[in-house]
Amino acid sequence: MKRIATIAEMKAACRQVARTGKTLGFVATMGALHEGHLSLVRASESRCDVTAVSIFVNPLQFGPAEDLDKYPRTLERDAALLEQLGADFLFMPGVEEMYPQGAQTYVLVEDLSNRLDGASRPGHFRGVATVVTKLFEIVRPNFAFFGQKDAAQVAVLRKLVNDLDMDVEIVVCPIVREKDGLAMSSRNAYLTSEQRQQALVLHRSLLRVQTAVEQGEHDSAKLIEIGKQAITEEARARLDYFAIVDPDTLDSVADVSRGALVAVAAYVGATRLIDNILVTASPQ
Ligand code: PAJ
Repeated sequence: MKRIATIAEMKAACRQVARTGKTLGFVATMGALHEGHLSLVRASESRCDVTAVSIFVNPLQFGPAEDLDKYPRTLERDAALLEQLGADFLFMPGVEEMYPQGAQTYVLVEDLSNRLDGASRPGHFRGVATVVTKLFEIVRPNFAFFGQKDAAQVAVLRKLVNDLDMDVEIVVCPIVREKDGLAMSSRNAYLTSEQRQQALVLHRSLLRVQTAVEQGEHDSAKLIEIGKQAITEEARARLDYFAIVDPDTLDSVADVSRGALVAVAAYVGATRLIDNILVTASPQ
């Protein structure tokens, strides 16, 4: 695996792949890699000839009161895992390389960026859209792999690629969970062992909703109540949102008969966690 820290070198390496007619897959990450990230790398390797991974903790997508400084950074361990998996390129630019002084161009997917996580994290999706646009232009991948874990991010990025006519296919991979159901996240590292148990309430609330759907409840308002109620049963969790939306537009849907994204965000201590499921109502 080749480690690359400059944009010029990364562009040259990726353009060389394109010249040889090989397909290039790309996985963007902020590091502190876990099985969720690694599943994206494997998906890329099985679908593409060459796989590039980026590790960049993007300051632009963190709010002023968020965890940019304490975000886990485990570069050597991450590089070893990627090497083991057989990734071809690891792009790990510094902040100055990605945002040299004087940069003043941003990419904003307007409405979608204010929904779900965007509503609680102003500026977050502008930061994500800007860095992903830059990364796509540097790598110019044929396929880019993202996790369903960040469902709103997927909606924003699909819209970005569509609106800007980008030549990249977004591939969305399923959420990888711990054995007890907790969605894997780099931020799980912040949790104490007690909080780790409390955090299970997110997945539990989604399963309750799924069961209710399977039992014939299709009304979103009622399903949201069921989900919220489940969250209140864990006194130490603080709900941010519980929403049932169209997975592409992130607009609320009144009932789930045609399928819907059920998404939850909650704080456990100071740590903000998210999770979601896609429900398809079974025919009655
Ligand atoms: P990060 O949180 O590091 O996640 C990188 C990718 O891994 C994202 O596509 C995310 O959805 C996916 N992922 C995280 N946890 C997962 C899990 N449990 N199962 C499956 N996939 C999972 O998302 C970002 O970084 C950034 O916003 C980024 C796109 C890199 C832009 O800075």
